[in-house]
Amino acid sequence: MRQHKLALCKEHYLEWVPAQTERIIRKYEMFTRHEKVLVAVSGGKDSLSLWDILIRLGYQADGLYIGLGIDEGLHYSTESRRLNEKFASERGMKLHVVDVAEVYGETIPAIAARTHRGKEKPCSVCGLTKRHVMNRIARDMAYDVLATGHNLDDEAAVLLGNTLTWSGEYLLRQGPALPGTPGLARKVKPLCRFYEREMAAYAILRGIEYVYDECPFAAGSTSIFNKQLLNDLEHERPGAKLAFYLRFLEARKAGLFAGREDVQQELQPCANCGQPTSAPGLCAFCRMVATGKAVVAPGPGQETEA
Ligand code: AMP
Ligand code: FES
Ligand code: ZN
Repeated sequence: MRQHKLALCKEHYLEWVPAQTERIIRKYEMFTRHEKVLVAVSGGKDSLSLWDILIRLGYQADGLYIGLGIDEGLHYSTESRRLNEKFASERGMKLHVVDVAEVYGETIPAIAARTHRGKEKPCSVCGLTKRHVMNRIARDMAYDVLATGHNLDDEAAVLLGNTLTWSGEYLLRQGPALPGTPGLARKVKPLCRFYEREMAAYAILRGIEYVYDECPFAAGSTSIFNKQLLNDLEHERPGAKLAFYLRFLEARKAGLFAGREDVQQELQPCANCGQPTSAPGLCAFCRMVATGKAVVAPGPGQETEA
Protein backbone atom coordinates (compact mmCIF):
# COMPACT_ATOMS: atom_id res chain seq x y z
CA MET A 1 0.00 0.00 0.00
CA ARG A 2 2.15 2.82 -1.35
CA GLN A 3 -0.10 5.50 0.11
CA HIS A 4 0.45 4.17 3.64
CA LYS A 5 4.06 3.10 2.98
CA LEU A 6 3.00 -0.25 4.37
CA ALA A 7 3.35 -3.85 3.17
CA LEU A 8 1.59 -6.67 4.99
CA CYS A 9 1.41 -10.44 4.65
CA LYS A 10 -1.97 -12.14 4.37
CA GLU A 11 -2.30 -12.87 8.06
CA HIS A 12 -1.59 -9.31 9.15
CA TYR A 13 -3.59 -7.76 6.32
CA LEU A 14 -6.66 -9.69 7.47
CA GLU A 15 -6.14 -8.22 10.95
CA TRP A 16 -5.29 -4.71 9.74
CA VAL A 17 -8.50 -4.16 7.72
CA PRO A 18 -10.97 -4.88 10.56
CA ALA A 19 -8.82 -2.90 13.02
CA GLN A 20 -8.84 0.11 10.67
CA THR A 21 -12.59 -0.28 10.19
CA GLU A 22 -13.10 -0.23 13.95
CA ARG A 23 -11.09 3.00 14.15
CA ILE A 24 -13.20 4.59 11.40
CA ILE A 25 -16.45 3.52 13.11
CA ARG A 26 -15.30 5.17 16.34
CA LYS A 27 -13.74 8.25 14.79
CA TYR A 28 -16.94 9.20 12.99
CA GLU A 29 -19.19 7.88 15.81
CA MET A 30 -21.05 5.62 13.42
CA PHE A 31 -22.63 3.11 15.83
CA THR A 32 -21.98 1.06 18.94
CA ARG A 33 -22.29 -2.64 19.75
CA HIS A 34 -25.65 -1.93 21.40
CA GLU A 35 -27.19 -0.71 18.15
CA LYS A 36 -28.76 -2.72 15.32
CA VAL A 37 -27.01 -2.20 12.00
CA LEU A 38 -28.60 -2.92 8.62
CA VAL A 39 -25.90 -3.59 6.01
CA ALA A 40 -27.03 -3.01 2.43
CA VAL A 41 -25.37 -5.80 0.45
CA SER A 42 -25.17 -5.75 -3.34
CA GLY A 43 -23.27 -9.04 -3.64
CA GLY A 44 -20.11 -7.10 -4.51
CA LYS A 45 -16.75 -7.21 -2.75
CA ASP A 46 -17.20 -4.02 -0.72
CA SER A 47 -20.54 -4.65 0.92
CA LEU A 48 -19.92 -8.36 1.57
CA SER A 49 -16.50 -7.54 3.06
CA LEU A 50 -18.15 -4.89 5.22
CA TRP A 51 -20.69 -7.39 6.50
CA ASP A 52 -17.92 -9.91 7.18
CA ILE A 53 -15.87 -7.31 9.08
CA LEU A 54 -18.80 -6.10 11.21
CA ILE A 55 -19.68 -9.68 12.16
CA ARG A 56 -16.05 -10.36 13.12
CA LEU A 57 -15.91 -7.16 15.17
CA GLY A 58 -18.97 -8.31 17.12
CA TYR A 59 -21.52 -5.81 15.83
CA GLN A 60 -25.22 -6.71 15.45
CA ALA A 61 -25.35 -6.60 11.67
CA ASP A 62 -28.12 -7.99 9.44
CA GLY A 63 -28.11 -7.78 5.64
CA LEU A 64 -30.51 -6.25 3.14
CA TYR A 65 -30.47 -7.17 -0.53
CA ILE A 66 -32.66 -5.34 -3.04
CA GLY A 67 -33.42 -7.42 -6.14
CA LEU A 68 -33.41 -4.98 -9.04
CA GLY A 69 -34.36 -7.37 -11.85
CA ILE A 70 -31.32 -6.45 -13.97
CA ASP A 71 -30.93 -9.81 -15.61
CA GLU A 72 -30.62 -9.52 -19.36
CA GLY A 73 -27.41 -11.11 -20.55
CA LEU A 74 -25.30 -11.39 -17.42
CA HIS A 75 -27.99 -12.46 -14.89
CA TYR A 76 -26.49 -9.75 -12.70
CA SER A 77 -29.33 -9.60 -10.13
CA THR A 78 -29.88 -13.36 -9.91
CA GLU A 79 -26.19 -13.95 -9.32
CA SER A 80 -25.96 -11.13 -6.76
CA ARG A 81 -28.87 -12.59 -4.81
CA ARG A 82 -27.39 -16.08 -4.88
CA LEU A 83 -24.05 -14.92 -3.49
CA ASN A 84 -25.66 -12.79 -0.76
CA GLU A 85 -27.82 -15.74 0.30
CA LYS A 86 -24.82 -18.05 0.26
CA PHE A 87 -22.82 -15.63 2.42
CA ALA A 88 -25.69 -15.29 4.93
CA SER A 89 -26.48 -18.98 5.19
CA GLU A 90 -22.83 -20.01 5.59
CA ARG A 91 -22.55 -17.67 8.57
CA GLY A 92 -26.05 -18.14 9.98
CA MET A 93 -26.88 -14.47 9.51
CA LYS A 94 -30.21 -12.80 8.77
CA LEU A 95 -30.66 -11.40 5.25
CA HIS A 96 -33.71 -9.37 4.27
CA VAL A 97 -34.52 -9.65 0.58
CA VAL A 98 -36.77 -7.12 -1.15
CA ASP A 99 -37.44 -8.03 -4.75
CA VAL A 100 -38.55 -4.85 -6.50
CA ALA A 101 -40.63 -6.67 -9.12
CA GLU A 102 -42.44 -8.74 -6.48
CA VAL A 103 -43.16 -5.81 -4.18
CA TYR A 104 -43.75 -2.99 -6.67
CA GLY A 105 -44.89 -5.03 -9.68
CA GLU A 106 -42.05 -4.20 -12.09
CA THR A 107 -38.29 -4.55 -12.43
CA ILE A 108 -36.07 -1.45 -12.41
CA PRO A 109 -35.56 -1.47 -16.22
CA ALA A 110 -39.35 -1.81 -16.68
CA ILE A 111 -40.11 1.17 -14.38
CA ALA A 112 -37.48 3.21 -16.21
CA ALA A 113 -38.99 2.34 -19.60
CA ARG A 114 -42.57 3.09 -18.50
CA THR A 115 -41.84 6.40 -16.80
CA HIS A 116 -39.32 7.51 -19.46
CA ARG A 117 -37.03 8.49 -16.60
CA GLY A 118 -34.20 6.43 -17.97
CA LYS A 119 -34.55 6.13 -21.70
CA GLU A 120 -31.07 4.75 -22.10
CA LYS A 121 -30.10 3.83 -18.57
CA PRO A 122 -32.23 3.07 -15.53
CA CYS A 123 -29.59 4.29 -13.05
CA SER A 124 -31.55 7.24 -11.64
CA VAL A 125 -34.67 5.08 -11.16
CA CYS A 126 -32.44 2.47 -9.54
CA GLY A 127 -30.82 4.96 -7.14
CA LEU A 128 -34.17 6.43 -6.10
CA THR A 129 -35.59 2.95 -5.52
CA LYS A 130 -32.60 1.69 -3.53
CA ARG A 131 -32.64 4.74 -1.25
CA HIS A 132 -36.37 4.37 -0.70
CA VAL A 133 -36.27 0.63 0.07
CA MET A 134 -33.22 0.94 2.36
CA ASN A 135 -34.97 3.65 4.38
CA ARG A 136 -38.21 1.71 4.51
CA ILE A 137 -36.66 -1.49 5.80
CA ALA A 138 -34.47 0.38 8.31
CA ARG A 139 -37.53 2.19 9.65
CA ASP A 140 -40.05 -0.69 9.56
CA MET A 141 -37.65 -3.18 11.11
CA ALA A 142 -36.37 -0.71 13.72
CA TYR A 143 -32.68 -0.62 12.75
CA ASP A 144 -30.63 2.15 14.34
CA VAL A 145 -28.39 2.70 11.36
CA LEU A 146 -27.94 1.79 7.70
CA ALA A 147 -24.43 0.90 6.49
CA THR A 148 -23.32 0.79 2.85
CA GLY A 149 -20.11 -0.50 1.30
CA HIS A 150 -19.00 2.75 -0.37
CA ASN A 151 -15.19 2.80 -0.52
CA LEU A 152 -12.69 5.63 -0.98
CA ASP A 153 -12.81 5.37 -4.78
CA ASP A 154 -16.61 5.77 -4.72
CA GLU A 155 -16.48 8.69 -2.31
CA ALA A 156 -13.62 10.49 -4.06
CA ALA A 157 -15.39 10.12 -7.43
CA VAL A 158 -18.62 11.61 -6.05
CA LEU A 159 -16.60 14.38 -4.41
CA LEU A 160 -14.83 15.17 -7.68
CA GLY A 161 -18.17 15.26 -9.52
CA ASN A 162 -19.70 17.60 -6.93
CA THR A 163 -16.60 19.80 -6.95
CA LEU A 164 -16.51 20.12 -10.72
CA THR A 165 -20.07 21.44 -10.57
CA TRP A 166 -19.68 23.22 -7.20
CA SER A 167 -22.79 21.52 -5.91
CA GLY A 168 -22.76 23.16 -2.49
CA GLU A 169 -25.64 21.32 -0.91
CA TYR A 170 -24.30 17.93 -1.95
CA LEU A 171 -20.83 18.85 -0.68
CA LEU A 172 -22.39 19.81 2.62
CA ARG A 173 -24.11 16.45 2.96
CA GLN A 174 -21.41 14.10 1.68
CA GLY A 175 -19.56 12.34 4.44
CA PRO A 176 -18.82 9.12 6.32
CA ALA A 177 -21.87 9.51 8.57
CA LEU A 178 -25.14 11.28 7.83
CA PRO A 179 -27.30 11.81 10.92
CA GLY A 180 -30.84 10.46 10.88
CA THR A 181 -33.79 12.81 10.60
CA PRO A 182 -37.43 12.09 11.45
CA GLY A 183 -38.40 9.30 9.04
CA LEU A 184 -34.91 8.83 7.59
CA ALA A 185 -32.33 6.37 8.95
CA ARG A 186 -28.82 7.41 9.98
CA LYS A 187 -26.45 6.40 7.15
CA VAL A 188 -22.82 5.38 7.50
CA LYS A 189 -19.97 4.30 5.22
CA PRO A 190 -17.41 2.45 7.33
CA LEU A 191 -15.19 1.63 4.32
CA CYS A 192 -14.90 5.22 3.11
CA ARG A 193 -11.15 5.37 3.80
CA PHE A 194 -10.22 2.13 2.03
CA TYR A 195 -9.07 2.09 -1.57
CA GLU A 196 -11.13 -0.14 -3.84
CA ARG A 197 -8.17 -2.44 -4.43
CA GLU A 198 -7.71 -2.83 -0.68
CA MET A 199 -11.27 -4.14 -0.41
CA ALA A 200 -10.79 -6.45 -3.39
CA ALA A 201 -7.67 -7.82 -1.69
CA TYR A 202 -9.59 -8.31 1.56
CA ALA A 203 -12.44 -10.19 -0.13
CA ILE A 204 -10.08 -12.44 -2.06
CA LEU A 205 -7.79 -13.20 0.90
CA ARG A 206 -10.81 -13.85 3.11
CA GLY A 207 -12.26 -16.21 0.48
CA ILE A 208 -15.51 -14.29 0.07
CA GLU A 209 -17.29 -15.22 -3.13
CA TYR A 210 -18.63 -12.04 -4.75
CA VAL A 211 -20.02 -10.81 -8.07
CA TYR A 212 -17.09 -9.67 -10.23
CA ASP A 213 -19.18 -7.96 -12.87
CA GLU A 214 -20.34 -4.39 -12.49
CA CYS A 215 -23.96 -3.62 -13.22
CA PRO A 216 -24.20 -3.71 -17.05
CA PHE A 217 -25.60 -0.16 -17.04
CA ALA A 218 -22.54 1.25 -15.25
CA ALA A 219 -20.37 1.29 -18.38
CA GLY A 220 -19.73 4.81 -19.62
CA SER A 221 -21.03 6.52 -16.47
CA THR A 222 -19.61 9.81 -15.17
CA SER A 223 -18.68 8.08 -11.97
CA ILE A 224 -16.46 5.58 -13.80
CA PHE A 225 -14.89 8.41 -15.78
CA ASN A 226 -14.15 10.32 -12.56
CA LYS A 227 -12.70 7.19 -10.98
CA GLN A 228 -10.31 6.82 -13.91
CA LEU A 229 -9.17 10.46 -13.60
CA LEU A 230 -8.46 9.90 -9.92
CA ASN A 231 -6.63 6.64 -10.64
CA ASP A 232 -4.36 8.46 -13.09
CA LEU A 233 -3.67 11.06 -10.42
CA GLU A 234 -3.06 8.38 -7.80
CA HIS A 235 -0.67 6.57 -10.10
CA GLU A 236 1.53 9.68 -10.34
CA ARG A 237 1.03 10.73 -6.73
CA PRO A 238 0.34 7.85 -4.35
CA GLY A 239 -1.99 8.99 -1.59
CA ALA A 240 -3.54 11.85 -3.61
CA LYS A 241 -6.98 10.24 -3.63
CA LEU A 242 -7.05 9.77 0.13
CA ALA A 243 -5.75 13.29 0.71
CA PHE A 244 -8.39 14.75 -1.62
CA TYR A 245 -11.15 13.13 0.42
CA LEU A 246 -9.74 13.64 3.91
CA ARG A 247 -8.81 17.27 3.32
CA PHE A 248 -12.32 17.90 2.05
CA LEU A 249 -13.72 16.48 5.31
CA GLU A 250 -11.34 18.69 7.31
CA ALA A 251 -12.17 21.78 5.28
CA ARG A 252 -15.85 21.21 5.74
CA LYS A 253 -15.44 20.69 9.47
CA ALA A 254 -13.59 23.99 9.59
CA GLY A 255 -16.61 25.68 8.01
CA LEU A 256 -15.58 25.99 4.35
CA PHE A 257 -19.00 24.87 3.18
CA ALA A 258 -21.01 26.46 5.99
CA GLY A 259 -24.60 25.82 5.08
CA ARG A 260 -27.75 27.79 5.21
CA GLU A 261 -29.71 27.07 8.34
CA ASP A 262 -32.87 26.49 6.36
CA VAL A 263 -31.57 23.80 3.96
CA GLN A 264 -33.61 21.09 5.69
CA GLN A 265 -36.73 23.26 5.64
CA GLU A 266 -40.25 22.11 5.18
CA LEU A 267 -39.98 18.38 4.72
CA GLN A 268 -43.28 16.61 5.20
CA PRO A 269 -44.26 12.96 5.24
CA CYS A 270 -45.24 11.42 1.90
CA ALA A 271 -48.97 10.70 1.82
CA ASN A 272 -48.32 7.11 0.73
CA CYS A 273 -45.13 5.83 2.38
CA GLY A 274 -44.52 8.40 5.14
CA GLN A 275 -40.88 9.11 4.19
CA PRO A 276 -39.97 12.82 4.33
CA THR A 277 -40.31 14.74 1.08
CA SER A 278 -40.13 18.38 0.00
CA ALA A 279 -42.91 17.86 -2.56
CA PRO A 280 -46.51 18.18 -1.40
CA GLY A 281 -48.42 14.85 -1.51
CA LEU A 282 -46.32 11.96 -2.75
CA CYS A 283 -42.53 11.58 -2.56
CA ALA A 284 -40.52 11.17 -5.77
CA PHE A 285 -40.44 7.38 -5.41
CA CYS A 286 -44.17 6.95 -4.84
CA ARG A 287 -44.91 9.34 -7.73
CA MET A 288 -42.65 7.29 -9.98
CA VAL A 289 -44.26 3.98 -9.00
CA ALA A 290 -47.74 5.48 -9.28
CA THR A 291 -47.36 6.96 -12.76
CA GLY A 292 -50.23 5.34 -14.64
CA LYS A 293 -50.85 2.86 -11.81
CA ALA A 294 -52.48 2.62 -8.41
CA VAL A 295 -50.24 3.63 -5.53
CA VAL A 296 -48.89 0.55 -3.77
CA ALA A 297 -48.42 0.15 -0.07
CA PRO A 298 -45.85 -2.62 0.22
CA GLY A 299 -45.49 -5.19 2.94
CA PRO A 300 -42.23 -5.52 4.79
CA GLY A 301 -40.50 -7.71 2.19
CA GLN A 302 -39.27 -11.26 2.50
CA GLU A 303 -36.73 -12.49 4.93
CA THR A 304 -34.47 -15.44 4.74
CA GLU A 305 -32.76 -16.60 7.85
CA ALA A 306 -30.31 -19.42 7.97
P1 AMP B 1 -23.30 1.22 -5.87
O1 AMP B 1 -24.29 2.32 -5.81
O2 AMP B 1 -23.72 0.08 -6.75
O3 AMP B 1 -21.89 1.65 -6.04
O4 AMP B 1 -23.34 0.57 -4.41
C1 AMP B 1 -22.99 1.29 -3.26
C2 AMP B 1 -23.48 0.56 -2.04
O5 AMP B 1 -24.90 0.49 -2.07
C3 AMP B 1 -23.02 -0.89 -1.96
O6 AMP B 1 -21.75 -1.00 -1.36
C4 AMP B 1 -24.10 -1.50 -1.12
O7 AMP B 1 -23.88 -1.22 0.26
C5 AMP B 1 -25.34 -0.76 -1.57
N1 AMP B 1 -26.07 -1.48 -2.64
C6 AMP B 1 -25.89 -1.38 -3.98
N2 AMP B 1 -26.74 -2.18 -4.65
C7 AMP B 1 -27.50 -2.80 -3.72
C8 AMP B 1 -28.57 -3.76 -3.76
N3 AMP B 1 -29.02 -4.22 -4.92
N4 AMP B 1 -29.10 -4.18 -2.59
C9 AMP B 1 -28.65 -3.69 -1.41
N5 AMP B 1 -27.65 -2.80 -1.32
C10 AMP B 1 -27.08 -2.35 -2.42
FE1 FES C 1 -28.77 0.27 -10.60
FE2 FES C 1 -26.98 -0.37 -12.33
S1 FES C 1 -28.79 0.66 -12.71
S2 FES C 1 -27.08 -0.94 -10.23
ZN1 ZN D 1 -43.59 7.93 -0.70
